[in-house]
Amino acid sequence: MSPDRPAAVVVLAAGEGTRMRSSIPKVLHTVGGRSLVHHAVVAAAELEPAHLVVVVGHGREQVVAHLAGVSPKAVTVVQEEQLGTGHAVQVALADLPDIEGIVVVTYGDVPLLTAAILRTLLDAHDEQGDGVTILTAHLGDPTGYGRVLRADDGSVASVVEQKDATEEQRAIREVNSGVYAFDAVVLRDALARLDTDNAQGELYLTDVVGHAALAGHRVGGLAVADVWAVEGVNDRVQLAAVHRELNRRTVESWMRAGVSVIDPSTTWVDLDVTLEADVTLEPNTLLRGTTSVARGASVGPNCLLVDTQVGAGAAVVSTTSYGAVIGPDATVGPYTYLRPGTRLGRGAKAGGFVELKAAELGDDAKVPHLSYVGDASIGEGANIGAGTIFANYDGVEKHRTSVGAHSFVGSDSVLVAPVEIGDGAYVAAGSTVTGNVLSGELAVARGKQRNIAGWVARRRAGTRTAAAAEQAATTSSHHTHDHNQQDSQQDERSHG
Ligand code: UD1
Ligand code: CA
Repeated sequence: MSPDRPAAVVVLAAGEGTRMRSSIPKVLHTVGGRSLVHHAVVAAAELEPAHLVVVVGHGREQVVAHLAGVSPKAVTVVQEEQLGTGHAVQVALADLPDIEGIVVVTYGDVPLLTAAILRTLLDAHDEQGDGVTILTAHLGDPTGYGRVLRADDGSVASVVEQKDATEEQRAIREVNSGVYAFDAVVLRDALARLDTDNAQGELYLTDVVGHAALAGHRVGGLAVADVWAVEGVNDRVQLAAVHRELNRRTVESWMRAGVSVIDPSTTWVDLDVTLEADVTLEPNTLLRGTTSVARGASVGPNCLLVDTQVGAGAAVVSTTSYGAVIGPDATVGPYTYLRPGTRLGRGAKAGGFVELKAAELGDDAKVPHLSYVGDASIGEGANIGAGTIFANYDGVEKHRTSVGAHSFVGSDSVLVAPVEIGDGAYVAAGSTVTGNVLSGELAVARGKQRNIAGWVARRRAGTRTAAAAEQAATTSSHHTHDHNQQDSQQDERSHG
């Protein structure tokens, strides 16, 4: 085994997390699009340990199922009763009876701990010839933590828990982070000596330090400069604080990679999101899951994009999108809802107050205003007029509609699926289309306009409307009007 690869990393995640006041196990709460325990196993896995063990207890079914999805390499071990951190590690080692080399212990609720910091811990452990090396932190307010007692030679003599500490010991500001590197043999021997003779009646992992020192092994302490790296989550206030810090770091690293972020404090980017250079993120933009944004595209203000791909040069404003693919140079928004299965071609447009579901728009196809398009394919260059509804649901089943290339559907039409409109076809405004329309045809499917002369004067006498009609009749009496010609123009007129 290479000296810089630990034999095992043990992640402790059996605690109840009472202060979260949640029906979800604490370590399944998320920051940056990953659960707390997922962050912990990602850092652990980067060390390439021979064994990656997660100790589970409270909510174990949910935690085990979750880990199987996000980190199939992690092995879970059940700690039936939470008898203390020392007991949790005993349970883990019972599963690894012959282990030799280095065992790293971390917690499942410390999401900002990185593999880089764990490597510095392993390096210190190696260089100092330690039997145990603990990661420590100097805190302004050490309340609640175990205090690190240093010997004259700078090594660690013991760790005393807050509840067991004297006044004098409580004044110490160097605390135990709960992250350790152990020599496996030293750890196993010391674990066998633990007892519950302490204020909490628990088997303390911290007591390993004293036992190891007594047995003549050096115990080292490495203080982290970055205190966030050891910040645990115990309640939802800490969850939010850690999330904000993680996001600050994520957004900052994207800015350094060439992304313009107008307001980092209202821009939230999950860890699995990818962004290219010259992307602009406007304020109030949330990018979640596996969302990607290609070069030169602009997203926001006011966008929530989940598992969405945005093509190069596209512009997306005030949009909510789940699982859509937005083509290069496409434009989306404002107030647009894209649902799974939506694909917009190059230069396509989904405009204001438009909802798309399982809808494919060809290159340069446009749905500019106030429409619902469900289960449809729209050919390249086609234009769907304002207020068009693709009626995809008959109350029992969903059906598809297709509109061919360069076709034109007039405003306020309803296309009742299944229906096919060919290439280069027209649908007159206000039509309810229930049958196919062939290429080159105009479909008109609505009541024909009928004008009743003199109706206002007869039925609305004495109103302002009647007065206006009378006024209009006198001023226009010199002009002649061709009503028929006006009617036929209106037939084909439609909002584009
Ligand atoms: C522990 C340390 C303390 C340190 C602090 C850092 C001990 C005795 N004390 O205290 O020195 O400053 O962490 O945060 O170790 N867990 C289990 N099984 C158990 C008990 C705990 O898996 O039986 C897990 C918890 O889920 C949690 C972690 O171990 O993730 C720490 O447990 P917690 O009870 O929070 O320890 P602290 O009292 O905070
Ligand atoms: Ca804790």
